[in-house]
Amino acid sequence: MKLASPPLNLLPNKRLAELTTLGIGGIARFYVEVKTIEALRSALLLSKELKMPFFILGKGSNCLFDDRGFNGCVIHNKIDFIQPSGDGIYSVGAGYSFSLLGVQTARQGWSGLEFASGIPASVGGALFMNAGANGAETKDPLLSLDFMDEEGKLHTYLKNDLEFRYRHSSLQHLKGAIASATFSLTPSIAARGKQLEIVHYRQKTQPYGDKSAGCIFKNPLDTSAGRLIDACGLKGFRIGGAEVSKLHANFLINAASATAEDFQKLIAEVQKKVREETGILLENEVRIIPYDISS
Ligand code: EPU
Repeated sequence: MKLASPPLNLLPNKRLAELTTLGIGGIARFYVEVKTIEALRSALLLSKELKMPFFILGKGSNCLFDDRGFNGCVIHNKIDFIQPSGDGIYSVGAGYSFSLLGVQTARQGWSGLEFASGIPASVGGALFMNAGANGAETKDPLLSLDFMDEEGKLHTYLKNDLEFRYRHSSLQHLKGAIASATFSLTPSIAARGKQLEIVHYRQKTQPYGDKSAGCIFKNPLDTSAGRLIDACGLKGFRIGGAEVSKLHANFLINAASATAEDFQKLIAEVQKKVREETGILLENEVRIIPYDISS
């Protein structure tokens, strides 16, 4: 007998500032948390039925929402199961904490995801962006993932079915949501030590306690965006409540009730100054989500 899935708790008028690490964003027309694959299917089908645009939210760490909010449904992916099979194969829900996965796997003596510890993303968000650090990327230990399309149909993709490059995946061109992923790790007694070293470096060089979206710009080929912005003398430069971090210049922080408009202006100003001084146009890593994505 097939059990009916529980009804969705669709909430109107959710403040997006509460859901993003930047603490910025107006009101989402609708918001729903999904904790199971069935609930994800129901949410996607509901959006389709209502002809309403949807946005899949992970940990809200790489998003800049509009001050007006989002004219559609924000589907918060909280599918957070973890299934280790004992031989370094881990299957996890897309809503699982990527950082926690990095810590747990290293603690258990598995290498491949040490770099994830300290990255404030969900597993789905990390795959979508092909997040990376310390010379490693999310795609490296990936075996396969399950992706649900807008019709609620699940597709299993092996790593080679997808395209990954620096901070980019072909998942960004698909409509639907990542449901889960399977990683394959290798045994290593050095994994925990390496993971602790990575966290230590991050804590020393990145503004942990501040509200940020991680690195705002992608690194240009062969150089670091942070180093370029720093060399232009922009650390501490501020527009409204948005400020270039004094610790790491590729982090723009919400220093005092910043608005999305402050951030957009600061991003544009930093791009302009770096271009004038170096000829390099910095490309956004942060995803800027317009109020209306249907038009
Ligand atoms: N640097 C400066 N000034 C700054 C920042 C950096 O001179 O304000 C210099 C550093 O001293 C170092 C070099 O630039 O010599 C590189 O800095 P860092 O090691 O911090 O690395 P990054 O290139 O700035 C990248 C990733 C980070 C990741 C770190 C550590 C990108 C855009 N950034 O930063 O990822 O955590 O390496 O591996 O690829 C992110 O993607 O959101 C992110 C934070």
